[in-house]
Amino acid sequence: MASILPHGGTLIQLYDPHVDLSAVDQRISIDKTALSDLELISTGAYSPLQGFLTKADYDRVVTDMRLSDGTVWSLPITLPVTEEQAVSLAVGDTVQLQYEETTYGILNIQDIYRPDKPHEAEHVYKTADPAHPGVRKLYQRGDIYLGGSVKLTRRIERTQFKEFYFDPAEIRQIFQEKGWRRIVGFQTRNPVHRAHEYIQKTALEIVDGLLLNPLVGETKADDIPADVRMESYQVLLNHYYPADRVKLAVFPAAMRYAGPREAVFHAIVRKNYGCTHFIVGRDHAGVGDYYGTYDAQKIFSQFTPEEIGITLLFFEHSFYCQKCEGMASAKTCPHEREHHIVLSGTKVREMLRSGDIPPSTFSRREVVEVLIRGLREKERVK
Ligand code: ADX
Repeated sequence: MASILPHGGTLIQLYDPHVDLSAVDQRISIDKTALSDLELISTGAYSPLQGFLTKADYDRVVTDMRLSDGTVWSLPITLPVTEEQAVSLAVGDTVQLQYEETTYGILNIQDIYRPDKPHEAEHVYKTADPAHPGVRKLYQRGDIYLGGSVKLTRRIERTQFKEFYFDPAEIRQIFQEKGWRRIVGFQTRNPVHRAHEYIQKTALEIVDGLLLNPLVGETKADDIPADVRMESYQVLLNHYYPADRVKLAVFPAAMRYAGPREAVFHAIVRKNYGCTHFIVGRDHAGVGDYYGTYDAQKIFSQFTPEEIGITLLFFEHSFYCQKCEGMASAKTCPHEREHHIVLSGTKVREMLRSGDIPPSTFSRREVVEVLIRGLREKERVK
């Protein structure tokens, strides 16, 4: 049974623990986002990338959402360093990439360039507003980018929910073993509420399996922490999903909050993990009011289906309707808004933090209990 082809045709594999680091004198320290990108490039999650973007690829990704060879790629995966770090580096050098003084990989420097950050912000995030979390991060990171191919020389040690980390090759193998041909991927940075469950299960009706693939890399401070979310997913799956139809695995990338551009990235990466379908609902990867509710769906019309290579499943804003007595959306429910249970993410987080219980029509009771307890414990240790 053949699996879906990775983006670009080949699953990139750049983990090599045998690289002789004693021959590499120069070291640069990288941030958490770059460390997670290094790992995701090297395990093939970001196929066809083989390193951090060179200037030619960066320029084209920022303006056209394509690599210089024309392959669709929507987010600039870059390695920013400070001016001070950059002065001692030259094109052609190989450097060790260190996080908190431990070497995780090497970079062959092919390009050293200064990005136009306002231009990057306007194109990638559709705003230069520093209040946008992705834009803020862009400005906080170094002002010089290094481009070039990488190798991962050491795997990142996991202290939390270890059993949910899998490389794309492993996930692909698991799908094979389960005999799933059609698999829908679901990205989330939130607890799974009833609306999420509804769109996942609606999709699951037409495919063989669901990859629940929560992002657990860096998120903004007011998002629910990953460990609390992971517990809530497990409780939800145990109570409400058939065990042989769902695989829970984490996506260890940083959240960019780039809305439509990030939806394209999320879809392509899930193809690399072996998914054949990908869900994009309302305001995917959005934050505040920066993007229109369905911009993250509309963006895909700029590409041919072959160029994306994974089937997109678009969902309308879903909610519980008291008149329908079930989950619905504007496509299936004729009733007025007053009958719909709709709570904003901010409102729900406020309720959970103050111990108020959102209605079971919004979120399963078992999930809410985990979230309230988890958030209380976090407050206590603060
Ligand atoms: S995201 O930043 O990871 O996209 P979130 O975890 O809230 O945020 O969303 C996960 C997926 O569910 C996204 O595809 C999003 O569009 C979709 N989604 C979230 N809430 C709803 C809803 N009420 N109706 C339809 N789709 C939704």
